[in-house]
Amino acid sequence: MKIALITGASSGLGREFVRQLALQSLDEIWVIARRTERLEALQKEVSVRLRILAYDLTKSESLASVRALLEAYHPKVKFLVNAAGFGKFGSCQQLLKQDQQDMMRLNMEAVVCLSQAVLPYMPRGARIINMASMAAFQPLPYFSLYAATKAFVLSYSRALHVELKPRHISVTAVCPGFVDTEFIGVARHTKRPDGCTHYRPLYRSQDVVRRALIDSYRRRDISVYGINTNIKRFLAKISPQPLTNAVWMWLRTR
Ligand SMILES: NC(=O)c1ccc[n+]([C@@H]2O[C@H](COP(=O)([O-])OP(=O)(O)OC[C@H]3O[C@@H](n4cnc5c(N)ncnc54)[C@H](OP(=O)(O)O)[C@@H]3O)[C@@H](O)[C@H]2O)c1
Repeated sequence: MKIALITGASSGLGREFVRQLALQSLDEIWVIARRTERLEALQKEVSVRLRILAYDLTKSESLASVRALLEAYHPKVKFLVNAAGFGKFGSCQQLLKQDQQDMMRLNMEAVVCLSQAVLPYMPRGARIINMASMAAFQPLPYFSLYAATKAFVLSYSRALHVELKPRHISVTAVCPGFVDTEFIGVARHTKRPDGCTHYRPLYRSQDVVRRALIDSYRRRDISVYGINTNIKRFLAKISPQPLTNAVWMWLRTR
């Protein structure tokens, strides 16, 4: 049985990955998110069978359940897309402890655990796509923990990409700027929604996912959609740290 496993499939980029990967010759797509009704609605949109896994990926039991399912069905995992993730605006002192813990668990630990879990089931040519972010390119005061989790995803994915080359498995870290999904609403649901109020340009999830799949097919370790995001990546690379911090502090509330 050939499958794709996609987290964060109930919304935004994860849901768009399901729509676009549904056009591949797969027997099933295993979709993970907490909102089951959203996943059921998605089944009506695509012809491939979705196996709906209503899991909270901040819980270790959920990760154990995925491992158990893999052991039970022994599928060929052609794609793993780690798209579940969230951020919260505000200073590190203002963020709720629970939010901080969940952000680290979901954005980092779940990505590592799921990658480790599927690797024994990945055939030659399989692909892992991890949602990082433009936030991975530099530290972001008032979005600090989120940016740090995405820097982790970018670094981890690029190293894994090299390690898995002998098995012909590629790992692509996707690093978009702001995308028009539920992400910003979730990030603003905090004591300091004014931590960042500048979301332009706002990209479309269809375009980001299309670019990510092309880059993954080309076996690139990073996918950056949009001229603006590519310029920011370049400037973050060549500029001294205090300057990138100052630009972000100015830009975040314009
Ligand atoms: N949108 C942007 O501007 C942007 C930019 C750069 C990077 N990203 C990254 O792209 C990825 C996708 O974000 P998005 O823009 O598509 O946001 P979104 O529309 O808010 O979707 C987030 C997804 O994560 C799932 N999720 C959240 N908490 C979960 C949990 N505890 N357990 C399991 N699933 C959980 C949500 O499903 P349920 O709520 O149903 O569980 C939802 O499907 C994230 O990693 C995000 O950091 C987004």
